[in-house]
Amino acid sequence: MGLRKDNVTEAVTAVRERLCAAAEIGVVLGSGLGAFADGLDERAALPYFEIPHFAPSSVAGHAGRLVTGIVGGKQLIVQQGRHHLYEGHGFEQILLPIRVMYELGVKTLIVTNAAGGVNADFGAGDLMLITNHINLMGTNPLIGLNDDTGGPRFPDMLDAYDSGLRRLALEAAGVLGVELKQGVYLAVTGPSYETAAEVLAFRALGADAVGMSTVPEVIYSRYLGLRTLGFSVIANMAVGLSNQPLSHDEVIRTVAAQGERIAKLIRAVASRLDSP
Ligand code: HPA
Repeated sequence: MGLRKDNVTEAVTAVRERLCAAAEIGVVLGSGLGAFADGLDERAALPYFEIPHFAPSSVAGHAGRLVTGIVGGKQLIVQQGRHHLYEGHGFEQILLPIRVMYELGVKTLIVTNAAGGVNADFGAGDLMLITNHINLMGTNPLIGLNDDTGGPRFPDMLDAYDSGLRRLALEAAGVLGVELKQGVYLAVTGPSYETAAEVLAFRALGADAVGMSTVPEVIYSRYLGLRTLGFSVIANMAVGLSNQPLSHDEVIRTVAAQGERIAKLIRAVASRLDSP
């Protein structure tokens, strides 16, 4: 695995000294979903460019900073802006923030993303609880020499999207009156959107949504032994399921409009989590 020990140590030291010493819950915010971090209590932020070895975020809709704060009495650390393979980043850049969270004591990781709807019953603006994923990125973040301090050479993906956390999320959604679809997230590298033929193929494979992120972080999170929960915001129906041309600006607008719903859900899940 490509994460260099010295790099991890330097990044962790900077975050400990300048942001927070420890946290229980990590959150990764996808495109257009940064608003959750702005609503935290006792909030503090540290831009990626002030953290050794953190790559800047080059995508519109991604702020590029770590934010800490309190929800339901628990300390959160939030990645406001993630890194993607399509930006040309390697897995070291994509995974370093997750490793930092782990080193700070995070036991539960909540990931969010914007995705295209592949299930014809979905519509733009829907929220989807990720039940599982299909990795069609053509690569795996754990390729390379295994770092035995991280996890096993051949980690199990059996309960990658933790069933207990999913139950908790569904309960919270019910109480809040937030409609939550459920489905399988299929990951591609992008940055081109899919062809209509690919979308049909993905549907036949069992996908409900398609996107360009999340799977590397979730594989790594499971490898580290974190409990993981994921939400997609259906930003648009995937190509061929709608006759609208796709635009990143439109994706960001649609997702941002759902920011408060997903923020409420994450707050409710965080509040219901037992402290370890
Ligand atoms: N495809 C892939 N990724 C996406 C999409 C899509 O339609 N919408 C938002 N992210």
